Amino acid sequence: MQYFDATQTADRLDYPVLIPALRSGMAAEASVPPRQHYSLDPGGEATLLVMPAWNREFLGVKLVDVFPGNARHGLPALSSVYVLADGTTGQHLALVDGGELTRRRTVATAALGTSLLAPEDARVHLIVGTGHIGGAVYDAYRAVRPGIATTLVADPHNPAGAEALAERLTRRGADAAAVEDLPSAVGRADIVTTATLAREPVLRDEWIRPGTHLDLIGSFRPEMHEVEPSLLGRAMVFVDNDVARTEAGEIATALARRVLTEGDIAATLPELCARPAPRPRTDGEITVFKTVGTGLTDLIAAVTVFAGRDPA
Ligand SMILES: NC(=O)c1ccc[n+]([C@@H]2O[C@H](COP(=O)([O-])OP(=O)(O)OC[C@H]3O[C@@H](n4cnc5c(N)ncnc54)[C@H](O)[C@@H]3O)[C@@H](O)[C@H]2O)c1
Repeated sequence: MQYFDATQTADRLDYPVLIPALRSGMAAEASVPPRQHYSLDPGGEATLLVMPAWNREFLGVKLVDVFPGNARHGLPALSSVYVLADGTTGQHLALVDGGELTRRRTVATAALGTSLLAPEDARVHLIVGTGHIGGAVYDAYRAVRPGIATTLVADPHNPAGAEALAERLTRRGADAAAVEDLPSAVGRADIVTTATLAREPVLRDEWIRPGTHLDLIGSFRPEMHEVEPSLLGRAMVFVDNDVARTEAGEIATALARRVLTEGDIAATLPELCARPAPRPRTDGEITVFKTVGTGLTDLIAAVTVFAGRDPA
């Protein structure tokens, strides 16, 4: 069995390879049972998450250990690995670094949303959130919208993080700038990507102008919101999978307030990927793609790492 550490995993998950792999893999038949959470101590702090998925060729499971108390020992709270096996024999093939796998498949999924839904002539991209995930967004979007000329970076919770990311991108030759005036940045942007831990919306409904596309990565619990739920009432809404209806705060709250009905969710990512061509946009429409993550994108990314291995 081969082991791929974080560097090897990153090397094999180039976005121009990973994003098309996600598009074809999401359209194919697969089984993705709900992820399981296990509390490991009486206080319920330490958690084991188990995320399985399989298709005709491969099966795999992501194991994520969350030990929030680790900061006391100077250790990261999260430790994650992906175990990949042959789907016809069950023989184990590879262990893949789960942190890098998750980071890359997450921003690649958001970029896939943009490639299928956002205006083709988008010129200005706003990234909100500059953590582990937000820091990887730029590279993934370059693979699907190379025409983006300007990248704006905001982090209302950590403005220094926005300065640092904009500086890193500028050093790499991008036209990037940190912004603090969010309403005006949102007004300039053709595409907005959010990757924050916000509970209260960082983006107000009234700031979003017609014609904008948004990819929302951050919220994964009903109490977390990156945009005001009312926005969803005037947007075309897409989700990476149906779990987003209950797990993503924006969607769950919009449904509970009846701003959105179940029937208003236009399509899931597998449905979008199964179409022969990206859906045409209508003039002035706002599109929202909400991703909460699915075990199928982990499986596809792990297979991509394994398939790109050095010859034995
Ligand atoms: N959709 C998916 O598949 C997927 C996968 C991995 C992570 N995520 C989610 O993406 C989000 C970001 O993850 P990360 O690993 O980059 O985290 P991180 O801790 O590295 O970064 C968090 C970011 O959110 C900002 N932030 C923190 N608290 C905030 C608040 N109250 N209001 C506004 N901004 C706030 C921080 O300044 C930072 O920019 C998390 O919610 C995470 O669960 C989603």
